[in-house]
Order: sequence, then structure tokens, then C-alpha cells
Amino acid sequence: MSGTSLDGIDAVLADLSQSGPQLLLASHYLPFDDALKQALLELHHPKQDELHQAQLTGNQLAKMYAAAVAPLLEQSGLPRSEIHAIGCHGQTIRHRPEHGYSLQIGNAALLAELTGIAVVSDFRSRDIAAGGQGAPLVPAFHDRVLRHPDFHRVIVNIGGISNLTDLAPGKAATGFDCGPGNLLMDAWCSRRLGRPYDENGAWAASGNLLPELLERLLADPYFAMPPPKSSGRDLFNIAWLERQLPVGENAANVQATLLELTCRSIVQAILDHCQGATEIYLCGGGAHNRTLRDRLAALLPASTVKTTEALGVDGDFLEATAFAWLAQQALHGKPANLPQVTGAKHPCILGAIYRNQQDAI
Ligand SMILES: Nc1ncnc2c1ncn2[C@@H]1O[C@H](COP(=O)(O)OP(=O)(O)O)[C@@H](O)[C@H]1O
Ligand SMILES: [Mg+2]
Repeated sequence: MSGTSLDGIDAVLADLSQSGPQLLLASHYLPFDDALKQALLELHHPKQDELHQAQLTGNQLAKMYAAAVAPLLEQSGLPRSEIHAIGCHGQTIRHRPEHGYSLQIGNAALLAELTGIAVVSDFRSRDIAAGGQGAPLVPAFHDRVLRHPDFHRVIVNIGGISNLTDLAPGKAATGFDCGPGNLLMDAWCSRRLGRPYDENGAWAASGNLLPELLERLLADPYFAMPPPKSSGRDLFNIAWLERQLPVGENAANVQATLLELTCRSIVQAILDHCQGATEIYLCGGGAHNRTLRDRLAALLPASTVKTTEALGVDGDFLEATAFAWLAQQALHGKPANLPQVTGAKHPCILGAIYRNQQDAI
């Protein structure tokens, strides 16, 4: 998995015949270097020669995905012939379901060639073809591993974009993208401090909230739009922020306001759409941000706010594990989208499969 934060690759080796924490056999994180991150950022916007550049960057990504697979085999001691498949989300460079597509690059054919392991990729297109958002796709997996029969849980994944899964007892799982997770905070931190992210939200905590700016940012129609809905860098990016930002604003105060924006958009989503939730579990990189966690807990006094580690699940690798499961669903010919989440007209088998000759059919 490599997500909208553009931080790097989360790779897991999962034994899906197991449940709970035992299913994670190995994990590895491979960060992107600055040049790759910059190339990916540029591919989010129209540019001269972008088709060629996207393909070259996709090839580079495939080599990195393959490099992330090797340590998993080493850690686990399993030969590649034992691995059923790689579920490779790829790197989103455009997410435009309103135009009928979501584009992930990463050359799955090359990844299959380099690893000798079957690859499942392009998980979002079929759901979009069936009228859905193509996102979020993790709620079905959250439902499988994190549901409790009696307690009303909400899982909040704080990646570049934040998304939630509502697991109300006795009801089908629902979910949607709440809005910006880390990506605006990351972008502002990178621009003003030259650092990829604001560790533990320390810089944000040193600033003061700018109420007028927060109000302008929260006025974006995305936040009040009813689900199904999904988002990406196509909407939330530094240009979006700068359109609302008066010149000369104190940079730490802007960061404090962006952290509050992430929290308030998540909290509003929970209050509006997950009534009665008593347990909130955070995962994704944003769950490491102590200031963010504390602020979410303060804004949600009626619920407990913990990370998925409290359930024995490593929140840094949950999304990657979800894509292993999505790959398994594809190989078994089983649907994996939740139409009530994505808005698709029907359940769909997601993903394109790249097999090798030795793979059993
Ligand atoms: N200690 C930390 N403090 C603050 N933010 C953090 C910390 N660790 C990770 N993050 C944030 O998490 C992001 C990565 O989260 P991730 O779940 O990988 O997102 P994505 O799925 O979009 O790639 C980083 O870009 C950073 O913003
Ligand atoms: Mg990431």
C-alpha cells in the first residue's frame, strides 16, 4: 500500500486463514525519497509530457514495491512459491470518480515479472464503473476484523485523507472519506519548515487557532455533502489552502488551524453519521500525532478514543493488510466493495489479476 500522504510503501505478509493479530506474518516500511515524492506530487496536476512521465514513475514504483516484498520473505522465511498473490493498490495520481475514473500507477505487470508472484491491482475502477466512488475500500475489511457484536465502534483511518468505518451492532457497515487527514498539515509543514510532517503535532500545538480561517475552510461543500463521498489531492491540496489563506498569517497558527480542521471534520462526520458510537479507534499515520489524538478525544467526550493497537491490530499496517484481503477476494472471484459505502449499484469483484505461468488457475 502506498497512500495519499506520499510518505512511502507499507508492505505486509498476511496469512488470511488466520484472524486477529496472528494474520500479520511480516511487515516492512519503505519510505519514498524526496525526488520520487516530488515526481508523484507533480503528476497530480496537468503538465507537459505527463503520460510518459506517469509510466516511467510507475515503473520506478513497481521496482520499489518489489524491493518492499523481499524483506517480507526474509522475515518470514517463506519462499515466494508459498505466496498466493500481491495486492498492490498502486499510487493514486488522480481520483476523479465524478469523471468515471481513479488512476493508480505502479505497473503491476512489471511487479509480477520482478517478483514471480501474481499481482492484483486496479481495485477501484470496477466499483466506479458500477456507479460508485471506488473508495473507501477498507470498510469491508474493518468489518471483518474489528467489529464487536455489542459495542458500537467507529474506525478512523488518518492517512493523507481521513476515512471512517461505522460498525454499529446489528447493522451493515458504512463509511466514507471525512476530508483531509494529514496531507494539508504535511504540505504546510514541508513548505514552512522543510520537514515532511509535524511530529506529534508539536508545531501545531505551539500555535493558536485562527477561527475565521477554520470557518472558511470548513465552508467547503465537501464537508456537508452526504455520503457516499470520497476525496483526494484533487480537491484538498496546498492551492486549496492558499485560496482561503490571508497573506502574512503566522505559520504556526495556520498549522494549529489545519490540525483543528482535520479533527473537526472527523468529529462532525462521526456526530452526523455514526450516532451512538461509544468506541473510536484510530489507525494510519495520523494516529501517531499526539496533539491530534488528544484533540479528537477532547471533542468526543461521549466516546473512548484509542488506537487500533488497543485491539491488538497494528494501525500502521491495517490498510496494507486490507489490500491483501482485497486481493484474496479477487482471486476467489468474490465481491469486495460495499455498495452502501461506495454508492455502486451492486457488489463487484474488484481488481485486475496479473498471473505467472506457474500459478495454479
Ligand atoms: N509521529 C507522527 N506525528 C505526526 N504525524 C505523523 C507521525 N507519524 C506519521 N505521521 C503522519 O502520517 C503520515 C503517513 O500516514 P499513512 O497512514 O501512511 O498515510 P497514507 O495512507 O496516506 O500514506 C505522514 O505523512 C505523517 O503526516
Ligand atoms: Mg503511507
